Formats: sequence, C-alpha cells, structure tokens
Amino acid sequence: MKKVRVRTVYPYDVLIGNDLTAEIVSRITDNCKKVILLWDEAVFSGYVAEIGNALEKDGREVMAVSLEGGESAKTIESYAKIMKIISEFNLTRSDVIFGIGGGTVMDLAGFIASTYKRGVELIQLPTTLLAACDASVGGKNALNMGEDKNVIGTFYQPSLVAIDTRFIDALGDEVFSEGCAEIIKTGYLGDAEMIDMLEERPLIKNRGDNDYLIEIIRRCIRIKASIVEKDEHDSGPRNILNLGHTLGHAIEAESNYSIHHGQAVAMGMVHMTRIAENKGIAETGTLGRLINILTEHGLEWRCPYNINVLAGHVERDKKVRGGNLTLVVPEKFGSCVLMKVKVSEIRKWLTEN
Ligand SMILES: NC(=O)c1ccc[n+]([C@@H]2O[C@H](COP(=O)([O-])OP(=O)(O)OC[C@H]3O[C@@H](n4cnc5c(N)ncnc54)[C@H](O)[C@@H]3O)[C@@H](O)[C@H]2O)c1
Repeated sequence: MKKVRVRTVYPYDVLIGNDLTAEIVSRITDNCKKVILLWDEAVFSGYVAEIGNALEKDGREVMAVSLEGGESAKTIESYAKIMKIISEFNLTRSDVIFGIGGGTVMDLAGFIASTYKRGVELIQLPTTLLAACDASVGGKNALNMGEDKNVIGTFYQPSLVAIDTRFIDALGDEVFSEGCAEIIKTGYLGDAEMIDMLEERPLIKNRGDNDYLIEIIRRCIRIKASIVEKDEHDSGPRNILNLGHTLGHAIEAESNYSIHHGQAVAMGMVHMTRIAENKGIAETGTLGRLINILTEHGLEWRCPYNINVLAGHVERDKKVRGGNLTLVVPEKFGSCVLMKVKVSEIRKWLTEN
C-alpha cells in the first residue's frame, strides 16, 4: 500500500492499494455510531457489501444508499433526495458519510458531507480512475445547475481517501480512458517525466500492471496535493489544475453532457495547445505530441464544436472574477502558465492567432 499525506489545514491520508477494507475500518473513530454509504449503482455491489459488513462487524449501524452515477447525480434534486434519507436515518455530526463512486459521486458526497448539519466526516472511496487521480482529492465538491457545470459547491476536505485498485480494474476501457485524460493533464502541467513514462508505456495498454497503475496514481495525487496545499481555496496557484477545463466545461455543456468530463478535458487541452502554439507561447511540436499520447490512450482529440460556439460558454464561466478570466496556457510538457484575459476579449483571444 502507498500513502500520500495531503497537508491542508486539516491534513489527511490518501491510501492506494489493493483490498483496503480492513485499513479503512480501522481508521473510523469510536465516536462514529452510524455510517452512510453513498454508492454508485454501477460499482460491483459485492465490494459495497464487503465494506458495509466490515463496518457492521466493527459495531457501526450502516445504511447503503445507491444512486445512478453520471452528471445526473450532481443535481439539486438528487442532493435534496439524499439529504432527506440521511436526515431520516438521523446521522449525527460524529458519524461518517462514505462516497463510493466516480467523480460525480465524489462531488455529490462532498457537498452533502459539507452541508449536512454544517459538516460531517467524509471518507472518499473513488471507483473510477478519474476520481482516483483527481476528483477525490483536494476538497472541491459541486452540483450542476441545468447546463451550468459545478456552479454550486464548497471546499471541504475528506478525512480519508482510499483508492482500492480492485474498483479500477473493473472499469470498461472508455471510462478508464476518461481517467487517462486527467492523468495526462496532470503530467502536462507539472510532471514531464510522467508524460515520458506514459508515452513509453501507455497506461491503458498496461492495465494489468498494478504496480504501474499505483505509481501513476501516486504521482498524480502528489502533484495535485502539492498545488492544493499552496492554495486550498483556489484563489491563485490552484487555477493551474484547470488546464483544458475552461474549454472542456464548454464542450460538456454544448454536448448536453453527452461528451463526458475526461473526454471533454482532452479536447479542451488540444484546443488550448493549438491556440498556444499558434500564438508562439507553446513549444512547436507540443500539439502533435499531445495528440499522439491522447490517441494512444483511446481518447478522441477532435472537438465537434467550433471555437466560436465554445467562446459563448467561456464568457459565462463561473471562474470569471472582476470581469477577467484566468486561462491555463501550456508552454511545454511539465509547464503551463496562468494568463488573465478580460471577458470582453476572450472571444478574440481564443479565435485570433
Ligand atoms: N471535485 C474535483 O476536484 C473534480 C475533479 C475532476 C473531475 N470532477 C468531476 O468528476 C466528474 C467526472 O468523474 P468520472 O469520470 O469518474 O465520472 P462518473 O462519476 O460519471 O463515472 C463515470 C461512469 O463510470 C461509472 N462507474 C463508476 N465507478 C465504476 C466502477 N467501478 N465500475 C464500473 N462503472 C463505474 C459511473 O456510473 C459512470 O457511468 C465530473 O462531474 C467532473 O466535474 C471533480
């Protein structure tokens, strides 16, 4: 088992390994009498039962609440429905909420844990590669409102993240690829060596190598943690994690979420790299290399939407502050910069070479 310590104001561990159930149960404090398992129904129910049974054997009262994963999990309706169930179960502030699922369940569970009785303990068990490498760590949570992505949310750190690779082994290739997009993003913004590793041994083609998988996840979490530790509430340096996301969110919204998050981020990175290369900011050849690595990981890089259409969404981005939007602009693998652009000039910036 590998461990990464996230040194936020309230620090916590991220555990990565195979079969972590006993370790997870051993970390629950005696004050906790009840546990809610909020789980994505796509996850193998045997794993959820294994965790529930182990917690019950340890003396906790357990309620498992299943929900449909995907963006529909992150709605106000879904939030209200689950809050009612939790309240009827009479969960107290010393009890624990588990999120078991992909990034959408991590976002929902995080928002529920942060708002129910003004905050109860949260343990995240990510079950997709994307959630393992990104969404489970860092304390951002979110709900969507209509087509506006992630507009409701808080910052609320979990007390533990446990990445059991048995969940990730069970993923289909498409969902696995979506996770590879966020891994490539993480390497692109801060770990050029990991990009070399992925070029040499694409993760998706080496799924059977558990040590390799664990090492890649560990590197991603270490990078994310180091950025979050500097800027827990996203007021500056943490913006760098949004590489590919401003256009990615626009692509998701324009597709009515039929293009999923990881895939949209991959297309967003390609758009942004093309613009940066054309403007002379990114090293020549970066785009070609990016397209190759995305393709090797089963990701589509061609975006079906014109940049002008996407610009309309970008102008309404939730990250706009004081009439400016901070864009993450790539220079080369391992290095990206933040650029503040006036909203009134965003369209021109995105479309003009
Ligand atoms: N809060 C953050 O820091 C952060 C960071 C990155 C992404 N996100 C959010 O995460 C979401 C994307 O996450 P995702 O790609 O995990 O999407 P997801 O949660 O929709 O999961 C993808 C699909 O995999 C299924 N699934 C989950 N676990 C499975 C398993 N073990 N076996 C089989 N199927 C399984 C789900 O039901 C869903 O259909 C987006 O909403 C994005 O905004 C949040």
